[in-house]
Amino acid sequence: MNEWTPALSTGVPLLDEHHRRIFQWLAELESAAAEERTLSSVYALVRLKHYTREHFAAEEALMKSAGYPDLDAHKAEHAAFRGRLGDLQIKSMGQDISTETVNLLGDWLTHHIAKVDMAYVPYVKKPE
Ligand SMILES: [Fe+2]
Ligand SMILES: [Fe+2]
Repeated sequence: MNEWTPALSTGVPLLDEHHRRIFQWLAELESAAAEERTLSSVYALVRLKHYTREHFAAEEALMKSAGYPDLDAHKAEHAAFRGRLGDLQIKSMGQDISTETVNLLGDWLTHHIAKVDMAYVPYVKKPE
């Protein structure tokens, strides 16, 4: 499901906003891919890549300043996903993006937020 749900909330408003926006572009990419709107797909992928890069950088900076112990492993996951988006962008120049591919990205994102992002929450969340 390419959709942000409250179950994915980290409790950090800025990061939730990033996640929501990433899912919005993913949903945009999914509908463009389903309707074979090639230019819209490529555009949505560019926006998705952009917001993903910004979000990962923000998250990594926050984890670093919080002294999060699993930062390196987390960064490696981010780098792998950025690599997938980069490969997909190159591929998209020669063929349309399939909805299956988009759904795999959505699955990765959902799992990453639910498991990997959630692990840093106790470290980065400021006491009220
Ligand atoms: Fe995240
Ligand atoms: Fe992350």
